[in-house]
Amino acid sequence: MLSKLSITAILVATGSLISAQTFQRLGTCPSLGCILPPDEQDFLPGQQFDIRFEVHAPKNGSEAFNNGVPDEKFTATITKDHDRKGGKAKSIADFFKLKGSAEPKVEKWTFSWYEDLFAQDAKTPSVVNVASKVYRRVALYEPGTYTVTLRYYGGKTTTAKWTVRELATRKKAKNVIFFIGDGMTTNMITAARLLAHKTINGKYQSLMQLDKFPVLGHQMTHSIDSFITDSANSASALYSGHKSTVNAMGVYADSSPDPFDDPKVETIIELLVRIWGSAWGAVSTAFIADATPIALTAHTRLRSQYGPLIDQALNGVTNYSWPGHGGPDAYFGGGAEQFLPGSGSYQGKDYYAEFAKKGYSVSLNKTSLLKADNKKKALGIFCKANLPVWLDRNIFPENSAKLKNDPAGGSGAATDLPGLKDMTLKAIDVLHARGGKKGFFLMSEAASIDKQMHSLDYERALGDLLELDDTVRATVAKLKSLGILEETLIVVSADHGHGFDVFGSSDTKYMAAQPDDRSKRDAVGVYQNSGLSQYTVEQPGISYNTGPNFPVNWDPRYVIAAGAGANPDHREQYGVDKTGPRTPAATLAGKGSSDFYVNPTDETKGFVVNGTVPVSQSQGVHSLTDVPVYAMGPCQERFGGTYENIDLFYKMAECLGLAHGSNKTIRG
Ligand SMILES: *[C@@H]1O[C@H](CO)[C@@H](O)[C@H](O)[C@H]1NC(C)=O
Ligand SMILES: *[C@@H]1O[C@H](CO)[C@@H](O)[C@H](O)[C@H]1NC(C)=O
Ligand SMILES: *[C@@H]1O[C@H](CO)[C@@H](O)[C@H](O)[C@H]1NC(C)=O
Ligand SMILES: *[C@@H]1O[C@H](CO)[C@@H](O)[C@H](O)[C@H]1NC(C)=O
Ligand SMILES: *[C@@H]1O[C@H](CO)[C@@H](O)[C@H](O)[C@H]1NC(C)=O
Repeated sequence: MLSKLSITAILVATGSLISAQTFQRLGTCPSLGCILPPDEQDFLPGQQFDIRFEVHAPKNGSEAFNNGVPDEKFTATITKDHDRKGGKAKSIADFFKLKGSAEPKVEKWTFSWYEDLFAQDAKTPSVVNVASKVYRRVALYEPGTYTVTLRYYGGKTTTAKWTVRELATRKKAKNVIFFIGDGMTTNMITAARLLAHKTINGKYQSLMQLDKFPVLGHQMTHSIDSFITDSANSASALYSGHKSTVNAMGVYADSSPDPFDDPKVETIIELLVRIWGSAWGAVSTAFIADATPIALTAHTRLRSQYGPLIDQALNGVTNYSWPGHGGPDAYFGGGAEQFLPGSGSYQGKDYYAEFAKKGYSVSLNKTSLLKADNKKKALGIFCKANLPVWLDRNIFPENSAKLKNDPAGGSGAATDLPGLKDMTLKAIDVLHARGGKKGFFLMSEAASIDKQMHSLDYERALGDLLELDDTVRATVAKLKSLGILEETLIVVSADHGHGFDVFGSSDTKYMAAQPDDRSKRDAVGVYQNSGLSQYTVEQPGISYNTGPNFPVNWDPRYVIAAGAGANPDHREQYGVDKTGPRTPAATLAGKGSSDFYVNPTDETKGFVVNGTVPVSQSQGVHSLTDVPVYAMGPCQERFGGTYENIDLFYKMAECLGLAHGSNKTIRG
């Protein structure tokens, strides 16, 4: 039986854990001694990484300790478990045979955090002083488990179990093409299929390309320290096999103020170039410094460091003797802000010129992209910010023409834009020519599925999902024509989802005619009143010229009625917005606050839906759902089942034979 005293102790301990839910001192470090990588992390044999130890001394707040003086004389050891030699603990420097001044010097800093929302309201942060050491660029080669122990404050310990996975070493795929539908869920794929493909008596007459993949799996998307992820740490998990924190990529987030000194992990690109010398590329409909494309090469706590991250994409991490990646062989997307000389580019430099100096062809429009020499490294930046979405490039081009997004820095609109398909097929040509026998890795991202889901613009999101499907279809045909389909693994997945689904149809004409919000809701037909998709029905006088796998009518009277689980205050009238992407919520003049309310100019014929997210949020947010994984090609059988997002990395890395190079010496 528990004594009264220990019950109190348990209550106190539980209380402090609950207060560290919304805000955390350091997510991976519940005690005052932190090991990064933390407990329960997995590694590819030979994968390079940094180790950081931190000892925290909270100066005030519920955890106040040692008058805010951190132990600087902490020690750390590592043991290979079940070692035949008895698994003797060794210091980090001895274990990794670090040369020269083996022990790094102690670093010190101070940070603060809020313990809960009451502390935030009262503006009373808890202040923490830190002593830390970092060991750069080590690797574990032998599969098995390791125990890392940190000893501090004369008797406290923190341990971390690390597992080096036992993986097959034979390379089975020469090339990998990894498509990411950002934010894409099964619900969205289902809705896109309904829009673009005809049924007769409930039976589809054609299918999406994704529907034809032989293997389907499911991945869990959680971050290392929160159950809702963002695109930075989820991309990083997919590319490195290590989970991370919101806004972090290619690193475990530490508590230091410098966004570039966090302990790094080697990505699939860096491994592939170091071990096989393969070609690699990234294509995105986002600005290319956005999380999903940039996480292939980025090592930072802060995804918004766009300028420096473009430099890392070209030159690698230059200040911590990190393995390079030779720069991308094909790099296509938006985001001219980081290339035009000025406030958006690293050190104000002209990154078109920086890439050109390193032998890149530079294309700023589709015509020029298609003409670029396949044997040369290729950069293509086609607009500022994100590419206009498929609907505004193809169906309502007048919306794209209004933009001021000239990639050359002029005041007008970007014209002659490529789409995801053009960019992906060109990237394959370049990577095939440059990779040759060494193969290639291409990541191709449909970014605006996510971006348009955020702004509750479901038609624009689904249009970009159909563009992704069309691109995958064209990719299969392209690989076949190049004779490399059999040796190429194609994986299509997402980084996270949104709580979107379709629950019926809506009569737009009836809704517009109703006088108030409650009667407008009667326009929605549920169950048998949902009827059939009208997007596949040709109508006289409407000719949307979009190809066979897209809707023939984006603007029928009866539209899908859909919603998301997380949204700001907004209005719903359903149906496509022909004048451009939605802005569902806005700050209002006269309200005297930065809170978001229903945007008075959005969907004016619809009814008000009160928000479910904080009033500081202008858009919907990501959700918890697992996301699908489609696989085709060598190793496809390994992609079935339900697994963690990091497992996708280990599956691709194993198929590419990246465990093969595990015993190679580190190239300095
Ligand atoms: C901790 O100390 C700082 C000043 O150093 C103060 O601003 C803050 O409110 C204090 N926090 C708490 C929880 O007392
Ligand atoms: C390291 O490099 C990044 C750019 O990749 C730069 O922003 C940062 O300031 C550098 N840090 C140091 C300590 O030199
Ligand atoms: C495309 O780029 C090329 C090369 O910079 C330029 O000569 C051409 O005028 C551009 N075409 C269009 C349609 O903007
Ligand atoms: C939305 O919330 C406001 C209070 O914030 C309330 O006055 C209004 O009736 C609600 N509207 C609907 C449609 O639920
Ligand atoms: C790496 O080296 C260890 C010990 O020298 C050996 O047991 C292991 O088989 C090697 N692995 C590979 C992939 O060569």
